[in-house]
Amino acid sequence: MRTEIEKLFQETIRQIQSVKTSSDLQALYFSVLGRKGKFAQLLSRLPNLPPGERAGLGTLANQTRNKLQQAFDQAKLKFKPQAADSADFDPTWPGILPEVGHTHPISAFIESAIKFFSGLGYEVAEGPEVEYSRYNFDLLNIPPNHPSRDLWDTYYLKNSGPQMLLRTQTSPVQIRYMEKHRPPVFIIAPGRTYRHEATDAGHETTFTQIEALAIDKNLKLTDLLGTLSAFFQHFFGNVKIRFRPHYYPFVEPGLDLDMACLLCHGKGCPVCKYSGWLEMLGAGMVHPKVLKNMKVAPNRYSGFAFGIGVERLVMLLYGITDIRLFLAGDLRFLEQFT
Ligand code: PHE
Repeated sequence: MRTEIEKLFQETIRQIQSVKTSSDLQALYFSVLGRKGKFAQLLSRLPNLPPGERAGLGTLANQTRNKLQQAFDQAKLKFKPQAADSADFDPTWPGILPEVGHTHPISAFIESAIKFFSGLGYEVAEGPEVEYSRYNFDLLNIPPNHPSRDLWDTYYLKNSGPQMLLRTQTSPVQIRYMEKHRPPVFIIAPGRTYRHEATDAGHETTFTQIEALAIDKNLKLTDLLGTLSAFFQHFFGNVKIRFRPHYYPFVEPGLDLDMACLLCHGKGCPVCKYSGWLEMLGAGMVHPKVLKNMKVAPNRYSGFAFGIGVERLVMLLYGITDIRLFLAGDLRFLEQFT
């Protein structure tokens, strides 16, 4: 009996070492240490042995079983990932992804607009959001106390020495850029702008514009119209646009671009104030006085400029009906743009 126990031990250890899969290991375990396994069978003969032979066999059997149990436990680790020790860990479950942010719809649009305009040879320029009134108004041919200043409901800064304000438009970047560059110039300037407005579904105090300035020899109104048509075709496909004369002090002639309302398809709705058209941007040929302020000779060069209202445009692209959603920080809104 003693030798049989030892033989079973040796044999089992050898088999454990050569086992290839965890289910083979399990089968081996049951055939040796299971309730009706080889070990149990051996031991069942114990009570029938003469008392002399029985002595010490119980202890040997227990020790052997413990050693085999250990060998099986060890072997089991080979087939399990380390962390799989705890019973409630299921390694076949997909991992938990960490939350990652994504680009805000306004930033995403700016990025694609930059791509579009760089394709036409434009470079990107920037200016400060806290601006001197000299750049935001004076040098853009909007003198102090001129009634046209009322076109922009301005936030002024108190006690700022030379008068400072939150820029009401991205147009001051035109002036700033031309302090350091000479024509030919083709730039866009995306950025935040601020106006003291009563907010509603279509108005925010903080919004975004993309300014464009082109100065070269022989630039004509048709160059401006062609550039804007290409832009709208790129983002909206075959949508109808129209140009309408409009006064801006820094351009002559000045115009507004309207796009057929995408929400009601020209039938008239609250978003387009029942006109079927939406005002998308202001544009025009750079005023000779402004060219002079830029130290550019109006008899040698001409230029055009426009300022795109980004929120408006993105609202139409996605069918968003309230401009205030962009800055409300509501994830239910933002997460739709991943
Ligand atoms: N800056 C003007 C506005 O914010 C838009 C504009 C830009 C108009 C350039 C003409 C030329 O209303």
